[in-house]
Amino acid sequence: MATEFDPNPTTPFLEPPFDSAATHPEPGGLFENSLLDLKCLGEFEGKSILSARDFTFTQVTEIAKLAALLEKLEITHYHPLDGKIAVTAFFEASTRTRTSFESAMLRLDGKIISIPDGGLTGQAKGESLQDIGEMFNAYCDLVIMRHTDTDSLERILENLRVPLINAGNGSGEHPTQALADWYALLKWKPELAEPKPEGAPKLHLGILGTPGSMRAVKSFLLTALLFKDHIAGVTVISEMADPFGEDVARDVTDAGIYYEVSNDVREFLPRLDVIYMNSIAFLGDSYRTLDSRYKLDAESSLKEGAVILHPLARLDELDTSLDKTSHNLYFSQAHGAVFVRQALLMAVLGRLDRLPQLS
Ligand code: CP
Repeated sequence: MATEFDPNPTTPFLEPPFDSAATHPEPGGLFENSLLDLKCLGEFEGKSILSARDFTFTQVTEIAKLAALLEKLEITHYHPLDGKIAVTAFFEASTRTRTSFESAMLRLDGKIISIPDGGLTGQAKGESLQDIGEMFNAYCDLVIMRHTDTDSLERILENLRVPLINAGNGSGEHPTQALADWYALLKWKPELAEPKPEGAPKLHLGILGTPGSMRAVKSFLLTALLFKDHIAGVTVISEMADPFGEDVARDVTDAGIYYEVSNDVREFLPRLDVIYMNSIAFLGDSYRTLDSRYKLDAESSLKEGAVILHPLARLDELDTSLDKTSHNLYFSQAHGAVFVRQALLMAVLGRLDRLPQLS
C-alpha cells in the first residue's frame, strides 16, 4: 500500500535562524515524485524502539519521507493520535528529546503524561523500574523513557506491555536521535535515500567522540552503516585507541566500511563532508586535557560545503561562531526532530490510516 504526497502542501517548512546562512534544507526534495511505503512504516506498529540496530535502510528513509511530509502539512486537523496517551518518563535531564516528543504528541492531537524528573516518581522511595513499568501499562499507550542506567530498558520491559521508545539509556543508545540525524542528512542530500548511481561521489564522515560509550554517536554510526554504499569512509577522532568497543567494532567490520582512528581532527578537516560532534566537554575533568584537536569554530579549515551535526547540548567543543555559517546543520537537525518523532509516533501507535489521502 502506498500514498502519494500533496504537491502543494499548506504549511511552510521551518525557517532558518534569523539573519543566518545556516543550512536549513527544504523537506520537499525527499518526497517529490515519491510514494510513501505504508507497508514498511506499518512494520513499526506496536513495536518498541530500543536500538538503531533494529532499523532497516528502508525504515529509516520511509520515516524520513513521512517526517518531510509532516513538516510541510498541517496535520493536526486530521487528529492522528486522538485518544492516544504517551508517558514521557525522564530519569535524566533533557532539553530536546522530551520536549520534541511532547510537541510531536500534542501536534498530532495526542495527550501526554509528563514526568520530567524521575525523582518525582516512586523511585525516590526506592520503587523498582519493574514496578513502575507495571503501573504504566494501565496509564498509557506508549512510554518514552530516558534513564542514566544502560540496563534500564531490560528492567522496565520485565513488566511493560505497551511499546517503549528508548530516549537514551546511559551509555547505550539513542535511536530516535539517529533518526533525527539522518533526517537532517537526507533533507540535505535526498539522493542518499536512493541506490547510489555508478560514479556518484561518496561522503566522508568524521565523528568526534567515542562510539563505544557515547549513545548518540553509537546510534548515529550504526545507522550510518545502512548507508554504506554512499559512504567513502569514517574517521573517528578520539583519545582512545579503540573507540568502538567490541560490539560496534564487529558491526563496522561486518559492514565492510573503511574506517580510521585519529586523535586530531585538524589533519582530516579539509576532506570531511559531514562532521558528527558530541558533547565531549561533558566527559568531565578529562576534557581539560583536550584542546583544539577536538574543537571547531568558524576559523577551522572545514571543507567547502561540509556540514556539522551535533545532538546538543554543547559546551565549547562547538563554537557559536559557526552558528550562522552554512556548516551549521545542527539547528536543522534539532528542529527536524519534532517531525521525525511525529512520524515514528504515528507508525508505532498504528495511526498511519489517519494520513490524508493526497494526490
Ligand atoms: N539530543 C539530545 O538528546 O538532547 P537532550 O539531552 O536535550 O534531550
